[in-house]
Amino acid sequence: MSDERPIGVFDSGLGGLTVVRAIRERLPRERLVYYGDTARFPYGSKSQESVAKFSWEAVRFFQSHNAKCIVIACNTASAFALPEIQGKCDMPVIGVIEPGARAAVKLTARGKIGVIGTTATINSDAYTHAIRRLKPSAVVYAQPCPLLAPLAEEGWVHKPATQLVIEEYLSPLRTARIDTLVLGCTHYPLLAGPIQAFMGDDVRLVDSASTCAAELVELLDARTLLSDAAGGDELFFVTDMAARFSEVGTRFMGRSLQAIKVVGAE
Ligand code: DGL
Repeated sequence: MSDERPIGVFDSGLGGLTVVRAIRERLPRERLVYYGDTARFPYGSKSQESVAKFSWEAVRFFQSHNAKCIVIACNTASAFALPEIQGKCDMPVIGVIEPGARAAVKLTARGKIGVIGTTATINSDAYTHAIRRLKPSAVVYAQPCPLLAPLAEEGWVHKPATQLVIEEYLSPLRTARIDTLVLGCTHYPLLAGPIQAFMGDDVRLVDSASTCAAELVELLDARTLLSDAAGGDELFFVTDMAARFSEVGTRFMGRSLQAIKVVGAE
C-alpha cells in the first residue's frame, strides 16, 4: 500500500521550513504542501482566539488539497490550537510540543529542563504541562524569547547584538543549572550554535523540528500512510510576500525553493 496524497505542513510564516527540512531528511519521497501565513506573521504575539482561527483556515486549506495528514510546525499554533484541531479534524494532525517534550524527558539527566519560545507559547504553559505529564518530578524553567525569531530571520547568527540578547534571555536558565533546553520555536534551530555556546556543552538541546519529523514517520508508518512513489514534489503557499519567503526561506531550508504561490488568507 502506498498513499501518495501530500503531507500538509503549516506555520505562521517561513520558520516551519526547519520542520520541512527535518521531514525531508527522513522522508525524501513524500509529497509536501506547505502553508505559511506570512500575511499574519508573527503568531507569537497574538491571542489564542486569533491563532486558533488562523489554524483552522490552514486545516481547511489542506483539506482542499487532499492532504493525508497535517503537521502543525508552528510551536505557537501547536500550543494554542492543536488539541482542539486533533479533537475535531477527521485526518491525523501532529504538532511540535509533544515530540519536543518527549525528547526532553528522554534526554534529561537531572530533571531540570529549560524551554524557550515565543511569548504566546511560553504563556500557554503547553510545554510545561506536556513535560510534567510525562515526568511529574521534572522542574521546568520556561523563558519567552520574542526577539530571537526576528534575529534568526535576519540571519544575525553571529552578531554581537544576538549574543547580548541570548545572554539576557538565557542567563536565568544557566544560573538555574538546567541540563536540557527545548528550542520551542521554529526559528531557534538556526541559532543553536550561539545558544549551545552560551549554555555550555553539558546542556542538551532539543530541536523540536527533528523530533516532530521522527514522530511523523512513526505516525505514517503506523497508519500505513507512507508513500513509496518516487515523487517528493513540494508546493509552497504563502499568504503574502513570496519573494521574501523565497529569499529567507532558502537560508532556513539550506536550498532554494521552487513553486511558491501566494494565496489569500480568508
Ligand atoms: N512559528 C512560530 C513558533 O514556532 C514563531 C514565529 C511566530 O511568532 O509566528 O512559535
